[in-house]
Amino acid sequence: MKLYDYGLSIKPTIHHDERGHEPNDTYYYVVAADAEGTKPIGQFPTVQEFIGDGGTLDHPQAIVQNLPPYQNAPNRRDGMESIGAIRFATTSLGPQETKEYIVVFGVTDHEQDIHRAVGRYCSHEKVQKAYEENHAFWTEKLNAIVFQSGDRDFDCWLKWVSLQPTLRKIFGCSFLPHHDYGRGGRGWRDLWQDYLALILQNPNDVRKILIANFNGVRTDGSNATMILKGIGNFAADRNKISRVWMDHGVWPFYTIKLYIDRTGDLDILFEKGSYWKDHQIRRAKARDFQWTSEYGNRQKDAEGNIYEGTVLEKMMLQHLVCYHNVGEHGNMKLEDADWNDQLDLASHRGESVPFTCFYGSNLIAMGELLKICAEKRGIQNILVFKELASLLFSEANTPAEKNAVLSAYFDSIDRFSGECVEIKIEDAAAQLIRKGESVLQRVREREWIVSQSGNEFFRGYYNDDGNSVDGDRADGTAMNLTAQTFAVMSGAATDEQVQKAYAAAGKLLKDPTTGGYRLTTPLGDNTWNFGRGFALIYGEKETGGMFSHMAVMFCNALYQRGFIHEGYEVLTNIFRLCTDTEKAKIYPGIPEYINNYGQGKYHYVTGSASWLILTMLNEIYGIKGEVGDLVLEPKLVKEQFDSEGAVHVQTSFAGKRITVNYVNALRKDYGEYKIANASINGRRIEPQEHRIKIEKSQLIKLCDRETNSLEIVLL
Ligand code: G1P
Repeated sequence: MKLYDYGLSIKPTIHHDERGHEPNDTYYYVVAADAEGTKPIGQFPTVQEFIGDGGTLDHPQAIVQNLPPYQNAPNRRDGMESIGAIRFATTSLGPQETKEYIVVFGVTDHEQDIHRAVGRYCSHEKVQKAYEENHAFWTEKLNAIVFQSGDRDFDCWLKWVSLQPTLRKIFGCSFLPHHDYGRGGRGWRDLWQDYLALILQNPNDVRKILIANFNGVRTDGSNATMILKGIGNFAADRNKISRVWMDHGVWPFYTIKLYIDRTGDLDILFEKGSYWKDHQIRRAKARDFQWTSEYGNRQKDAEGNIYEGTVLEKMMLQHLVCYHNVGEHGNMKLEDADWNDQLDLASHRGESVPFTCFYGSNLIAMGELLKICAEKRGIQNILVFKELASLLFSEANTPAEKNAVLSAYFDSIDRFSGECVEIKIEDAAAQLIRKGESVLQRVREREWIVSQSGNEFFRGYYNDDGNSVDGDRADGTAMNLTAQTFAVMSGAATDEQVQKAYAAAGKLLKDPTTGGYRLTTPLGDNTWNFGRGFALIYGEKETGGMFSHMAVMFCNALYQRGFIHEGYEVLTNIFRLCTDTEKAKIYPGIPEYINNYGQGKYHYVTGSASWLILTMLNEIYGIKGEVGDLVLEPKLVKEQFDSEGAVHVQTSFAGKRITVNYVNALRKDYGEYKIANASINGRRIEPQEHRIKIEKSQLIKLCDRETNSLEIVLL
């Protein structure tokens, strides 16, 4: 314990933890002053001195008997229970008079921070200044994107939602005391999705981190799953378990695509970095006994030099490995779970249809991106490590053929050469697109269920016995939302299938009490051959809760596919549940899920906030990037316009602050209006019927003010 003029600090010698004690570096402190910055006259730094013999904290002897603080300690203070019990000079207050005191408490690894805290906060003026700085900091963050529609409650709710990704970035996934799991770290998929909103807020901030995070990818296409402090630091797994989540490969590409669309920065694809290396090989199905911690966590080539590959190479690898890693029905293997980390008991024969779709559409989008690189940058060849070419050019078709190619690939990287080959960019593009399309086509044709109940929808999974989890069962029709979301979003679903899947979700997945879209119908007997989640009570979490993340992604998928009224229905459904405060019992924002009592759970922990902001800006307000160019394509329904028929959004694009005003004076509905007129700062631009594309260079030229106004007239 250390006493100062303004307070005290303690620094316990060790962390007491029976799994392994460690030396402690942390100081815990309290300092205080009055409004003028006058220091206290003394303190009772131990509970013993403060409460006295037989006293209690609500009847402390020091106060009850108005004792003077000891100038010299009456007994040993170290090792005693400490307390910030601080005494100020006597003062008299007349009626209506007030007296202000400032109490600062903190945690730090550096003792000088305590003295700094006194200097920065210990007077009214200083606290006021700090408060204003803090206020300005958060206001700026919150003003990065501002929505103004006809529904003020909805707009205010979105403000809270837009704060969530930032808090999650700072604190990790599970930082509040009411979370019953997690240690506050951030997992791979969560991290990449959090960046979706952060890219929308300010893409320049994240470039370096995006590139560094690719250093977590292994040469078998899997990745280290935990992101640690600092940039590019990982741990293989939070709980030191060797396992692979099969969805992990899709998220980086999705995020990088958004980044490129917002910035036009195609160069990021060619930024290089190392690969992760540890004992885990063949996607956690084998162990590399040669690997030792002395080797380090960076993959080396045959000569023992650290190998560096491009972001593009790593993303191709992540997708091409999964393309070949299919189960007997032809979908990608579920491995140790997908996005739904509860589906963790089907690593042998389990298959994930939703993520097969996601990988499929990413393969196509990646191919298209390569074509753009060729077109816009004149790039003719790309360089990849030679073993990857065998996956890229494979003609394997059946599950057995695909598995054989993958197995040969794994053999070939047992001793990773690090040699690179040049590939024509157009050949690579064609291969990726062909592969992606074949994946989607197969799902479209083979994973569509026509149930006896008359509902039609996409199958979600095969379990560890190789049986369909979804469809007709003795106890009813089983269905899950994830499959519908990604079949719709990926383009695997035809328009007719989108309609039918949406209708089936309304019938089978809506909770009869709350009306929310549940993630799944009860899983019945699929307990031990599918996943741990189904040992949970139905109606909570991933089993039968309205799992916000998937519901928001479902909404996004419907908007992407042009099913605007359906998407809007899902959106308002989520909003209604989150803001029905009496039942939801949460602060404003979006929780991880709403249980079947309508109660919001795990507030702030969720990636749905990022997806919601993305959906609002990119889809609903339709302010998108297309490889750096700005596209405006509103998908607003008439209820969203205010009484004058207007909605506004403030955001940034290409480093310019813009306010987009959509004016729909006749208050027409989506589908009835067209873009009639458009201007930037009063200068007319040429619209098409439903969208406007403004090239980045033109946008920069026209946006010559601090805040630039884009007026879009809808008629
Ligand atoms: C949480 C986990 C995430 C997992 C999801 C579904 O999602 O953080 O890793 O994919 O549950 O099991 P969140 O709601 O935080 O996005």
